[in-house]
Amino acid sequence: MNKKSEVSNIIRGCWQLACGHSQQKTDIQPIINAIDCGFDTFDCADIYLGVEELIGQAAKAAGKKVYVHTKFVPDLDVLQHIDQKYIENIIDRSRRRLEVECIDLVQFHWWDWNVKNYLPAMKILSHLKDLGKIAKIGLTNVNKVYLEEFTTHFEVASLQVQGSLFDKRLERGLKEFCRNMNIKIYAYGSLLGGFLHKNWLNRPEPSLEQLQNRSLVKYKLLIDSACGWKEFQRRLLILNKLAEKYHSDIGCIAIAAFLQAGCADAVIVGLSPRNYAAQNQSLALLPQLEAHELQELHAWACNLAGDPYDEERDITKAHAKVMKYNLNARKINEKKSPF
Ligand SMILES: NC(=O)c1ccc[n+]([C@@H]2O[C@H](COP(=O)([O-])OP(=O)(O)OC[C@H]3O[C@@H](n4cnc5c(N)ncnc54)[C@H](OP(=O)(O)O)[C@@H]3O)[C@@H](O)[C@H]2O)c1
Repeated sequence: MNKKSEVSNIIRGCWQLACGHSQQKTDIQPIINAIDCGFDTFDCADIYLGVEELIGQAAKAAGKKVYVHTKFVPDLDVLQHIDQKYIENIIDRSRRRLEVECIDLVQFHWWDWNVKNYLPAMKILSHLKDLGKIAKIGLTNVNKVYLEEFTTHFEVASLQVQGSLFDKRLERGLKEFCRNMNIKIYAYGSLLGGFLHKNWLNRPEPSLEQLQNRSLVKYKLLIDSACGWKEFQRRLLILNKLAEKYHSDIGCIAIAAFLQAGCADAVIVGLSPRNYAAQNQSLALLPQLEAHELQELHAWACNLAGDPYDEERDITKAHAKVMKYNLNARKINEKKSPF
């Protein structure tokens, strides 16, 4: 039986609305539609080109409070000499783009642990929090060792990492640590960038060159490492049978199973610039799966190595080659701050 989901555990992710993510021209309509369907929290980043502005404009047009989780992703080239001016400029730019005085959540990303400036950078973010420019500070793509280090010195509100029925790296200690420290877990990748869709059922394995965007390349690499295409197809068939049983879709079954098992506090689901209306509606009505169904889906093996983001951070691995490391190098003083 379908039940109205608590949409508060679904955050709409807006990377998919960034300029250059796909050929699709984007505007505020997907965000407005999501707000109309009951979603009130949106994930973005300083480096998702054009997205902070879109969320700011959509919130204004909708006339409702929306919660914004943005990110601070300092460029790889800057890490050695990062300072207060660089950090404050980027945070002020996000405040201007979002048209808010105080950002609800800033999630801090650090590209290279060998550059030891991450704690001083976090201290500067904490100072900006004290100044009222940021309400909460979280982290993204941090593995357990570094999360422990951060929490020794700072309050960490949340951790954003990849996690899904196919990617269980969170279960290797990180989830337990977050639970003990009262750190919220926000998981992305729950739909494998769109691979968890009927369109991919019974399809021959695509080459990386055939895939339409970087996101699909990233998740195809993940499928390769986690289980391989043949096993992926077997799992897609199981999800599709459940989708038929619950009059739902494959994506919603995968998300329902992940959330119902308590794998994360919320999932961040990409807001499609093309198919947003139907997807917003189906996400707002997740099915309630039976215990034996959850058991079957969570028994799937995951062959990915290490903690979340370990493979993506390893420059010898194909996963890391999908990343762009210096996206903040665009000029950061676009407009004068109204604050
Ligand atoms: N911290 C990080 O490093 C990081 C990395 C990646 C993503 N993120 C965040 O996570 C968000 C989500 O990105 P993701 O990589 O995790 O992608 P995802 O949510 O796994 O996949 C998004 C795609 O799934 C499809 N979709 C959406 N709703 C659906 C539904 N109800 N049923 C079936 N398919 C549906 C859409 O594809 P179509 O457009 O083809 O319809 C959409 O573009 C991003 O927007 C971003 O905010 C963060």
